[in-house]
Amino acid sequence: MTEVVHTPRVFSGIQPSGGLTLGNYLGAMKRFVDMQGQGVETIYCMVDLHAITVWQDPAKLAHATRELCAGFIAAGIDPAQSILFNQSQVAEHTQMAWIFNCVARMGWMQRMTQFKDKAGKNAQNASLGLFAYPALMAADILVYHATHVPVGEDQKQHLELTRDIAIKFNNDFGTEFFPITEPVIEGAATRVMSLRDGSKKMSKSDPSDMSRLNLTDDADTIAKKIRKAKTDPEPLPLDIEGLEDRPEARNLVNIFAALNDQGVEDVMRDMGGKAFSEFKPMLADLAVAKLSPISGEMDRLMQDPAEIDRILANGADKARGIAAPILKKTYEIVGMVGAGA
Ligand code: AMP
Ligand code: TRP
Repeated sequence: MTEVVHTPRVFSGIQPSGGLTLGNYLGAMKRFVDMQGQGVETIYCMVDLHAITVWQDPAKLAHATRELCAGFIAAGIDPAQSILFNQSQVAEHTQMAWIFNCVARMGWMQRMTQFKDKAGKNAQNASLGLFAYPALMAADILVYHATHVPVGEDQKQHLELTRDIAIKFNNDFGTEFFPITEPVIEGAATRVMSLRDGSKKMSKSDPSDMSRLNLTDDADTIAKKIRKAKTDPEPLPLDIEGLEDRPEARNLVNIFAALNDQGVEDVMRDMGGKAFSEFKPMLADLAVAKLSPISGEMDRLMQDPAEIDRILANGADKARGIAAPILKKTYEIVGMVGAGA
């Protein structure tokens, strides 16, 4: 059989489950912007159906979805160049997810570390949706035949599962219909850590607001959080090797590098040997310079929620245009009567 070559296409998603953190921005959104306008189709989704796998207050969910859309645009996503929409407006995602629920195995899902973390001790009380979450994520990606998925390090296991689902579907039905998606986990900030604990991921669900920078934080708050960020008493080392076993120092250097579009080695060349009392104000200035324009633009966009809703509806129409024929073909392959009509 001749090998099917799939046209490159980028897809990624972010959950509208609270505000955006510096981790989301550096690990995901900033890299989505880099991939836009490089001649490859880019599709970015607010995954509201994923968000409700844990409880969301309806009014807050709607607000967070619009705010996330404002964040995408403020960070540099152009709705004329990229397809930007919220997941629930394109029913093909859930229709494809059902097929994948029947391809994926219970054992695969049980190994997912995100499920184990989020379900906690009382897994019997977790929603069925939280368990099936990765099959919906595979559907998000494969309903567009996306070939490349930029994400932070924490999503690696889910993307391996997406590959497993595509491989099993292709094997079961004797086809090469689905591409085997490549994760794109690159740059200095694939895993931004908490400002309070260098062993924990920076997360919107951390109870301590001091642990993270939010894209909506004002300049004073950003400066204060960086000033108070946990560090050890030593000055910065002279080279990268010296950052080993110093997770908090390494995290701040990684953040600096990613914000400044520099390699970590270049940052160490400039900053190596400096005391934190000197380095932290430089980092704070850089963070304010890069993040304040984004939060200002988000505020401006949020003044006109009807315009945001129009952008999302328009993006959803474009997304459906790609997803509908791929879903139809999938149903035909599976043997659903009427799908070929
Ligand atoms: P979520 O907010 O969980 O929907 O995550 C959206 C995107 O941000 C995913 O690609 C995550 O991998 C990425 N992300 C979230 N937190 C971090 C972090 N602390 N460091 C790097 N990337 C992150
Ligand atoms: N699970 C991802 C996260 O929590 C969000 C997500 C849902 C996603 N569907 C996706 C990311 C498809 C990339 C591609 O970060």
